Amino acid sequence: MPKVFLKTYGCQMNERDSEAVAAQLLSRGYALTESESDADVVLFNTCSVRDAAELKAVGKMKFMAADFRKQKRKVVLGFMGCMAQARGRGLLEEMPQVSLVVGTQKFHKMADYLDAVLAGHGTRVCDIAEEPGSQSMVREHLSVLPGGEARVSAFVSIMQGCNQRCTFCIVPQTRGMERSRTIEEIVMETRALVAQGVKEITLLGQIVTSFGRREIPEKDGKSAFVRLIEAVHGIEGLERVRFTAPHPKGFGEDLIEAYGRLPKLCPSAHIPIQSGSDRILKLMHRGYTAEHCLEIIGNLRRVQPALGLTTDIIVGFPGETEEDFERTLALVKAAEFDNAYLFKYSPRQGTPAADMPGQLSQEEKESRHTRMLDLVNEIAARRYEKLVGTKVQALVEGPSKRNSARLTGRTRCNKIVVFEGSDRLRGQLLDLRIDRAGAFTLYGDPARVNLE
Ligand code: 5AD
Repeated sequence: MPKVFLKTYGCQMNERDSEAVAAQLLSRGYALTESESDADVVLFNTCSVRDAAELKAVGKMKFMAADFRKQKRKVVLGFMGCMAQARGRGLLEEMPQVSLVVGTQKFHKMADYLDAVLAGHGTRVCDIAEEPGSQSMVREHLSVLPGGEARVSAFVSIMQGCNQRCTFCIVPQTRGMERSRTIEEIVMETRALVAQGVKEITLLGQIVTSFGRREIPEKDGKSAFVRLIEAVHGIEGLERVRFTAPHPKGFGEDLIEAYGRLPKLCPSAHIPIQSGSDRILKLMHRGYTAEHCLEIIGNLRRVQPALGLTTDIIVGFPGETEEDFERTLALVKAAEFDNAYLFKYSPRQGTPAADMPGQLSQEEKESRHTRMLDLVNEIAARRYEKLVGTKVQALVEGPSKRNSARLTGRTRCNKIVVFEGSDRLRGQLLDLRIDRAGAFTLYGDPARVNLE
């Protein structure tokens, strides 16, 4: 039974794709290993969104190839996902030890290709072709987590690709045009997960708010995405519904209204604003203004005052002046995010922004990154502190990674909370009183929940 070491770089979509590949490999007689030292196969599911992610994956693969050669071990090496898609055969040419390059629409073929490589002497495979219907192939789940525990929360891939053409982003090149699954398929997959004990799902896609835009008509003023949320919301035994990532433009009245109406739809949102300067937003081709973002956030907080809110921000986009940057600082202050993922602009080959004038120096990007991080952390600390003394509901996920004597879970607003309790509580919805706030973590007490 060949043992596969599968490492994932990048986003939640990649994590989900890797899970589906892992489940496929298990069902085809492969075993998974957590360590490269006893692996027969090493697969990297890669990310191309920033240069650093690519360098990391290529560097690590070269290092491992050299190491295996020194040990005289024959290990099959393969790349899959976004970087495999973008670089294709070039990866095989650059690294003679690599024998598999499998693109983003071919995950379902991994076991076949691996069989072929393991059987054939010197067989090398590169498949980065488009495949109609590939959006429906990411559907297999691991029934238990790699640690052996049953899962409480699961991601469900609802679509592939992106049509937005943001000028900084390589995703349309690596993941292709938007293709959505049907609502029926997604409901069926979710039902099966719930039957295995899953209590919470996160609907996953590049731009989930564009789900089914072309294929599924609006009904009673509700977009295909809101119709999908309603459909999974109706599944008995499912307690919580989340989604990621939306486009700010996708927060129409129907979605805002759904937050107020559907109790399982958790009051949390990840709204990637990218910048607070209208001039830069235009150059990025984002299709909204800073004011529009604040309006959406205001509308959401009107229906869900306790909304948990996170965002993505790019600092140092080409041509970003000090004034543009200060507008982003101002938007972050006004929006009061609970957390923000900050990215230094990274030129990606073939994207319009890579050729724009006014590329910033690395030092400039670093300095803006630090200034933004200080602000984000200061606001977050204040917002987490405000929750001390309040009652929250946690979905118990299992032992805390830092201290296995404690449990960890997530609040409805998507904040990590750590508390005392027995592992038997896994999968339960538990009321807690928040005693203390740390860095992006809350500490709660189930016993004191009803004490004022
Ligand atoms: N440089 C830096 N950050 C980027 N992102 C996407 N493309 C780039 C790039 N070229 C960020 C965006 C996006 C997140 C997933 O990655 O903020 O929301």
